[in-house]
Amino acid sequence: MVVIEAENNISSLKTQLLANYVFTDELSSLSLSEMTPDFDPFIREIIEAKEFAGKDGTICVIHNIAGSRIKRTLLLGMGDKKNLNPEKTRNLTGKVVKKSKELGISEFVLNPFISIDKDHLSALVEGIKLTDYSFDNYKREKDGNELSHVRILVRNDLENNKKIIQRSAVVSDAVIFTRNLSNLPPNDCSPKDLATFALDLSKNQKLKVSIIEEGEMESKGFGGILAVGKGSSSSPKLIVLEYSGTTKNEKPIVIVGKAVTFDTGGISIKPSEKMEEMKFDKCGGCNILGIMKAVSDLNLESNVIGIIPAVENMPSGSSYRPGDIIRMYNRKTVEVINTDAEGRIILGDALSYGVKIFAPKAIIDMATLTGAAIIALGTNVAALVGNDKELVTKILECSNQTGEKIWQLPLFEEHKEQLKSSNADIKNIGGRPAGAITAAAFLSNFVDDIPWVHLDIAGTAWNQEGTKEKSYNPKGATGFGIRTILKYVANHNPL
Ligand code: BES
Ligand code: MN
Ligand code: ZN
Repeated sequence: MVVIEAENNISSLKTQLLANYVFTDELSSLSLSEMTPDFDPFIREIIEAKEFAGKDGTICVIHNIAGSRIKRTLLLGMGDKKNLNPEKTRNLTGKVVKKSKELGISEFVLNPFISIDKDHLSALVEGIKLTDYSFDNYKREKDGNELSHVRILVRNDLENNKKIIQRSAVVSDAVIFTRNLSNLPPNDCSPKDLATFALDLSKNQKLKVSIIEEGEMESKGFGGILAVGKGSSSSPKLIVLEYSGTTKNEKPIVIVGKAVTFDTGGISIKPSEKMEEMKFDKCGGCNILGIMKAVSDLNLESNVIGIIPAVENMPSGSSYRPGDIIRMYNRKTVEVINTDAEGRIILGDALSYGVKIFAPKAIIDMATLTGAAIIALGTNVAALVGNDKELVTKILECSNQTGEKIWQLPLFEEHKEQLKSSNADIKNIGGRPAGAITAAAFLSNFVDDIPWVHLDIAGTAWNQEGTKEKSYNPKGATGFGIRTILKYVANHNPL
C-alpha cells in the first residue's frame, strides 16, 4: 500500500515526477523555478504557445535533461481558482495517479501550489489512495503497477500537516478495506465469512464484536432476518460491533448496514442478466465494518454501535414465500408480497434491535435497497430519507464536505399508506410509484421516535465500469458513504 508523506525540503528534491497544480488564472505568474530552474523556460513556451491552458483535468508532462534531480514535471490543470473545492482536488489528483501509472512510475511528488488547507490536503491523500486501489486478488496477472511512495510539498506547519495526512490515510484505508470485502465473490463471502471478518477486527481494534446466531435469533424473535435467511444453506448472522470512545455516559450513534451476501430475489427470482452484480448487495454492511475500523483506528471520542444483518437471499424448498406473514423483532407483522424486497425486512429487525437495546441518539442505515433509487437519482447520487431535520441537515453538510453526493427525498403519510396490508400490519412492497420512498417508509416502522436517516446507496455503491465523473472510483465497489458517515460520527474530533 502506498506511503504518503509531507515534504518541505524543496530545494534538493529528487523524484521521478513532480506534479504541479496549475490554475487558469495564475498561468502568467506561474513560476516553477524555485524547484526546477531547468524547466522554467520550457514551461513558459508551452504556456505561451497555448498548448497548456490549465483547464480542468488537462495534463502536460515534460521530460528534463538526463541526470536532473527531477526527471519529469507534470502540469495539472485545475481550472479557475475561484471554482476550487476539495472534491475537484480529489478527483483531479486521481488523474495524476492514473498518468503516473501509464508512465510506469511508482513514486512522485505533488506540488499543490496553494497555501493548502486541511480539506484540500485530505483530498490529495484520498485522491491518491482511492485511485491507486484495484481489486486483483483473484487475478494471476495484476492490473498494473502499484504506487509505492508519494510526497506532498507543504510549505509550513509540517507537524500539523503530517497529522492531517495520517488521519486521511486511515480514512482512505477504511474505504479500501471495505472495497476489498464488498468486491468478494459470493462464494467467498457468506454471512458466516462476514461474521469472521468482523471478529477479526476485534483482535487488534478497540472493538467488541458479537455474533447473534440463528438459534439465538429464534429465541429473541428476529422473524425478519430468519425468514429471509431460510432459503440459504448459509445461515443468517446478526453482527454487532461496539466501540466506546468516551467514558461519558453519552448515548451512542447506531449505524446499520444491509448485508445480503447474494440477492437472487428468492422465490420472486430476478432475471439472470446482470444477476452477478447482486454480490454487491452486501455493500451497506461492508461499509459498517470499514467505518467501525476507522472509528477505532482514529480513537474517536464517540460511542458508536455497528449492526449488520447478514443473509443470503436464495430460492429453495426452505425459502420464505410471497404470501407468508412474518412477525418482526418489534412484534409488527409483515405480509410478504415479493421476496426480492428482502433488504427492508432484515433492516427492520436490525433497526428495531438497535433502537431497543442501545437507545441511541441517532440511528443511520445504509443499504443497496432499491432499483428505484437509481431511477430517481442516477449512479452518482444516493437517496436520503429521514425523520429528523437536525440529523438530516448534519448528514447533508458532511456529504457536501466529502463529495459523496446525497439528495433528500420526502416521506409523507401517503407513502406510508402504500404499505397497508389487508392481512397484516404492513406489507413489504408499495408498488412501483415512489419505490425508493416506500422502501424507506417500510423502515420507518422500526425506528420509533429516534432521529433516523436512511441512505439508499443502490446507485452509488458500485460501478459497472470505472466512472468518468470520479477518477478515484474504480470498477466494482466504491465504499460510498463511509467518508460522510465518518465525518458525522467524528463530530468532536473533526476529520
Ligand atoms: N438489492 C435490490 C436493490 C437493487 C437493485 C440494488 C438493483 C442495486 C441494483 C433489492 O433487494 C431489490 O431487489 N429491490 C427490489 C424491490 C422491489 C421488489 C419492490 C427492486 O428495487 O426492484
Ligand atoms: Mn432484492
Ligand atoms: Zn437486495
